[in-house]
Amino acid sequence: MSTSLEMRKIQKWYGGLHVVRDFDLYVEPGEFVTFLGPSGSGKTTALKMIAGFEPPNGGDMLLGSRSIVDVPPYERGIGMVFQNYALFPHMTVAENVAFPLKVRRVARGEIEQKVLRALGLVKMVEYRGRYPNELSGGQQQRIALARAIVFDPSLLLMDEPLGALDRNLREHMKIELMRIQKELNITVIFVTHDQDEALVMSDRIAVINEGKLVQVADAKSLYYRPQDRFVASFVGESNLLPCRVDQVENGAGRVTIGHQQSGVVRLSGQSRGESAWLFVRPEHVEISARGARADVGNVLDGVVENALFLGELTRYVVRCGQESITVKQQNRGQPQFTNGSPVSVSWDAGNSMVLN
Ligand SMILES: Nc1ncnc2c1ncn2[C@@H]1O[C@H](COP(=O)(O)OP(=O)(O)OP(=O)(O)O)[C@@H](O)[C@H]1O
Ligand SMILES: [Mg+2]
Repeated sequence: MSTSLEMRKIQKWYGGLHVVRDFDLYVEPGEFVTFLGPSGSGKTTALKMIAGFEPPNGGDMLLGSRSIVDVPPYERGIGMVFQNYALFPHMTVAENVAFPLKVRRVARGEIEQKVLRALGLVKMVEYRGRYPNELSGGQQQRIALARAIVFDPSLLLMDEPLGALDRNLREHMKIELMRIQKELNITVIFVTHDQDEALVMSDRIAVINEGKLVQVADAKSLYYRPQDRFVASFVGESNLLPCRVDQVENGAGRVTIGHQQSGVVRLSGQSRGESAWLFVRPEHVEISARGARADVGNVLDGVVENALFLGELTRYVVRCGQESITVKQQNRGQPQFTNGSPVSVSWDAGNSMVLN
């Protein structure tokens, strides 16, 4: 029942603005792929082209083995949930969910059965006689989801479906969505600009910036091996220190940060003499009293500029020359450093890498 989706060099222009550039993406049957990117990066536009509400200006799109660029939206068999769930206000919950089946001229008995099944999946059967204005935001969103899946779509598109919900409800709906997706084994493309949502829910995340797919990978690869500076700073918190590459061997090398040479770090295609960024996550940076560490390599001396005790961890900002380095230290009873303390920060070369 679930289908693959393939985008081949998909383009979209609005006037002189190239909004979606060269989208090349294969989504496997049953896969949950998230489009993650800042506001205006082209996420909704990409979704609208898949759904058939906007024609692409170039490229091809296949659902399974069938090209869909010339197929009208209602014949694509794609379910869609929007941020503003827009239920029909004059219809009951059951009538709302039945709507896509009525449009498809499904027999009445079958409609009843499918509506109950869809409402069951979102745990809203007992609300079937209510009107949308008698439901909470989260309940309305569930109905919108039931309406999108009731006709067994081969692909489900969701554009920031949790955006309007409060934090608790969002957490809950995240888990529900994942459960329903697994239960139906449906192919999903989910849009968000919330990185936590993306990391938790997706099989793979497609990071989009200025209309381009920057990196498509699973959460761990994105987090630990971002392809460039944009991905590193958009997914999770990161330190990016300007550096110069001075040794290169087999994809690894040493860089100089300020006046200090690093241990051997992974490069991403840089050559000798190039300026780049050394990337290291705050939780991979150690903080210690100045001089307490004898090892050389990835150590910088600095002064604590800001210390925030957050219970399970302390977040430090350490000024090292021109650079500020963020450190997240798990609290296990060790001494805390206060503002102005002279400290050293250090990290394992293996936990850092050089990015363009
Ligand atoms: N119908 C349109 N006509 C002209 N420009 C448009 C149109 N729709 C979108 N755009 C522009 O295309 C770009 C991408 O818009 P899009 O809605 O896809 O962004 P998005 O990634 O979904 O952003 P957000 O996270 O804010 O929803 C924006 O610069 C937007 O202004
Ligand atoms: Mg959008």
